[in-house]
Amino acid sequence: MLHSKCLSGLKKTKIFSGDYMANYYQDFDASVPSFSRHELQSVENFEADLKILARQWVLLDHISSFSAVGDYKVFQLAGESVVIVRNEQGFSGFLNFCLHRGAKLCNKSHGRQSAFTCPYHAWRYDLTGVLQQATACTSKRITVGESRLKEVSVRVEAGLIFASLQAEHSTFSASAELFAPFLAWHNTSAAKIAGSKRFVAKGNWKLFADNFFECYHCRVLHPEMCELAVHPKITSTISAVQHEQYMAVAQDWYEKVAALGHPVGERQSLMPEQEHFSVMYRVPVDSVSLTLSKTGQLVAPLMGQAKVADGGETFGYLGPLTLLNIYNDYGYSLRLNPISVDETELILTWFVAGDAVEGKDYQFAEVSWFWLTTVQQDLEIIELARQGTSSRFYQPGDYTMLEADSAGFASWYRRQLQQQNQIKVPDLV
Ligand code: FES
Ligand code: FE
Repeated sequence: MLHSKCLSGLKKTKIFSGDYMANYYQDFDASVPSFSRHELQSVENFEADLKILARQWVLLDHISSFSAVGDYKVFQLAGESVVIVRNEQGFSGFLNFCLHRGAKLCNKSHGRQSAFTCPYHAWRYDLTGVLQQATACTSKRITVGESRLKEVSVRVEAGLIFASLQAEHSTFSASAELFAPFLAWHNTSAAKIAGSKRFVAKGNWKLFADNFFECYHCRVLHPEMCELAVHPKITSTISAVQHEQYMAVAQDWYEKVAALGHPVGERQSLMPEQEHFSVMYRVPVDSVSLTLSKTGQLVAPLMGQAKVADGGETFGYLGPLTLLNIYNDYGYSLRLNPISVDETELILTWFVAGDAVEGKDYQFAEVSWFWLTTVQQDLEIIELARQGTSSRFYQPGDYTMLEADSAGFASWYRRQLQQQNQIKVPDLV
């Protein structure tokens, strides 16, 4: 699916300061096996996964989805229903159940409210989640005006809304530092959502993440991608000559774009604390294509501060569930939402400049064509992987060097699983 670098490295690595793939390979651990049937199918294991995922930050939405105070949306986050609401202070998030006897507070996917009133016995909460009314309540543990719904961490960076059930705020700050210069240049604050697509597919979430951390499959599955984009992870699977050609193209592009004052590669993989990682960098789509569209030409107005298209791709991921790509004309994010041990939701979202008008400045079908095509190809092969790995006789295979990030992800995941019992998980406040 998505095609990134250096999860295996998890340390600062300059893209153009040396051989890209050498950097990518350097920490590849050939002894890491792929996911086992137990890791992919055990219900008990999935419960453990949700605890790991509760500590991750996830990109949920864009501020343009909340145009007025009181606008709220309900999301699934690490197996929990959460409400994100805009209020006078900004944004708040809380778990979607009442403090009294736990009834679900918001039963619609979105709406606008001046307060949240529980449908069961009508306890009322303000837009920050503080209890405002609890008729006849004598509980010593509940205080009207003080008690609040279980809080979910929400952070807004350049118009993008991130949330986590239990992550430390400091881990977001470190990631935000990495992302901020790129997001500011693309002016994602002023972007808007052009549209989104959802797929619910069979398969454990790790099968999907495993797919998007490697591009070994790209040459086999994604002919359009190989035609349009000459990413190093693609060229390295084709031939050394082509990869060398890419490196030359990338070096020229890097110099040209740096002279324009546009942000360039030179980015890092970041893992401020062991349970978190994030990556962001900027590379050329290729020497000809300006963006990932059917023709390689722009399909929407320039976004952000760019005065001319430079054909760059800003690429980032935040933890194992969020992927973000931004081109000169549109942005794209993919979120994995693990639903059950054998079911995963994929939420694909496209962003364009906030003042772009659909039908006049862009067609959503053109903006979404590339990643929709690519993800559908991935979904087909992931289903086959799901079927094969379901065999009682399946034994985990070995990753190749071209799947170094997937191997890095599998190692990271197993470390989290091992450490889980030792990590002191802060309770929701
Ligand atoms: Fe919400 Fe009783 S469960 S008021
Ligand atoms: Fe793919």
